[in-house]
Amino acid sequence: MCGIVGYVGTGRAAPILLDGLKKLEYRGYDSAGIAVLDGSRMQLFRRAGSVAYLEEARKLQGCIGIGHTRWATHGAPTEQNAHPHVYGRFAVVHNGIIENMQPLKEACLKRGETFSSETDSEIIAHLIEFCYDGDFIKAVRSACARLEGAYALAVLCTAEPDTIVLARRASPLVLGEGEDGLYLASDIPAIARKGIKIYALSDGEFAILRGREIAFYTEDGRKISKDPIDYDCEEEIPEKKGFAHFMRKEMSEIPLAMANTQKIIPCYPRISELREVLCHAEYIEIVACGTAYHSGICAKYAFESLARVPVAVSIASEYRYRDPIVKKGTVVIAVSQSGETADTLAAAELARARGAVVVAVTNVRFSSLARLADHVLFTCAGREIAVAATKSFNAQLMLLYSLAEELARARGGRVCGAELAELPALAAEAGRAAEGVRGWTAHFAGAKSVFFLGRGADYCAALEGSLKFKEITYLPSEGYPAGELKHGTLALVERNTPVVALLTSRRLAEKTMNAVHETYARGAKVFLITCLPEYCSREEVSFSVVIPDCGEIFSPALSVIPLQALAYYVSVARGNDPDKPRNLAKSVTVE
Ligand code: G6P
Repeated sequence: MCGIVGYVGTGRAAPILLDGLKKLEYRGYDSAGIAVLDGSRMQLFRRAGSVAYLEEARKLQGCIGIGHTRWATHGAPTEQNAHPHVYGRFAVVHNGIIENMQPLKEACLKRGETFSSETDSEIIAHLIEFCYDGDFIKAVRSACARLEGAYALAVLCTAEPDTIVLARRASPLVLGEGEDGLYLASDIPAIARKGIKIYALSDGEFAILRGREIAFYTEDGRKISKDPIDYDCEEEIPEKKGFAHFMRKEMSEIPLAMANTQKIIPCYPRISELREVLCHAEYIEIVACGTAYHSGICAKYAFESLARVPVAVSIASEYRYRDPIVKKGTVVIAVSQSGETADTLAAAELARARGAVVVAVTNVRFSSLARLADHVLFTCAGREIAVAATKSFNAQLMLLYSLAEELARARGGRVCGAELAELPALAAEAGRAAEGVRGWTAHFAGAKSVFFLGRGADYCAALEGSLKFKEITYLPSEGYPAGELKHGTLALVERNTPVVALLTSRRLAEKTMNAVHETYARGAKVFLITCLPEYCSREEVSFSVVIPDCGEIFSPALSVIPLQALAYYVSVARGNDPDKPRNLAKSVTVE
């Protein structure tokens, strides 16, 4: 899983490749590399670690090259396993997973070929070399015909030093045509700028970038023409602006992200069509991964409580393989910050193929998800750099809550317009209150495990709080329904185990406090996040932060803010980089 780039033109390739790769690091930063042809001389530069370690390669001569930033699937994140992989005349960068690598590799070994990496990707260079009889694209096509799995490929050949051949199956690939040359990348922002025409390669297609010309081909070798995508490249490059980390800066942008997202549904040009679809929906299924899955769980409470429509929330990687029932009138909402998560894309595609109307909720215009959905609602969080999602989660909640409200209005359900309208301002207040968790850091930094408890919507926020905490602190944590604790998890509570309790519903407060008391009685240290200040003085509570009251259903949009802050401060206290946690990537583009 990874990001790939390429360039052929009149400029020097190396700086263009490095700048493109930096923009793709959200797809992985375990290792990186570039291959640049200087005439027919293949120059390879690879390093373990992030793209920053490639700086020395910036000076390479040559106007054609390919590059890669990796998130390791097969083989450790070492220099040896870094792309590009070179075999014979060919250098290859690959995003995806080759599932039949074992039999293919055995055939190569029988022919006496040797491998220099443990990756599944190196096999592609071997196959292309094996299939090459002087026709570059034919060799790539023949090699691809033998591959099973997912791939976006860019290939260089020393025998044709003005040409890059591209292929795509189930992993995204876009091309750019600019004044100074031709570009390729895993996503549009990596190559987008004024005056560049962008084309998207579809599944099964091939392309040749030769000199100043792009040629597109179908899987069976037929030449086709394509229209450029209509995109807007006015995106600003995010900077830390005085914050120590992007994560902290992005948390400070939560109120703005929510306020901007609030305007989306009223301005959606096809709102009456969408309203119609939703109004007739007998059933809504939300599919997503990671933090986006948690926003789906939070939204289920809102859709069901306000609009009284049954909602199921599925982890996309489970949905796609469980042979889901898609009844007539099912609406599938696919939620994805990046719009590139492989499992979410596959789940959305499957739902659509089975007759569902797919509504995408994504933060990235022109993302793969935005391109495949029937309706697209954009969260306006702005670009998010830190791997741990923060402002995009709050923006997803804002959008999904607004959709639930829209539906409630149309179906005669419960309408909470005023509470919803106030959310961005209350999020700013919650952000100020959240600074209170800074003083809690010492109790968490050396903890063996941490528990996040809540009931109802508080439970949903607890799930996200726990995910945030474990991914950047590397400490084990669990988000748990307060009422379920006694069925097993309570056995893990020891003296001084930190328990973070969420309490934002007066209706459920005493019930949650029962569970809190059960942990306290077994030695837990209890940290409370609440909008009910009277609970702060309870005997069980060691520390507390009071956030504003926004009503039970919408409360995760506020209660998650101190949880994000807690994860951030503990991560920093443990000496971690919260922006780039180990082993993770911002967007997971393989299954
Ligand atoms: C990765 C990221 C998470 C994110 C998840 C889903 O695991 O590290 O922060 O929530 O992917 O990503 P998406 O772009 O689909 O929301």
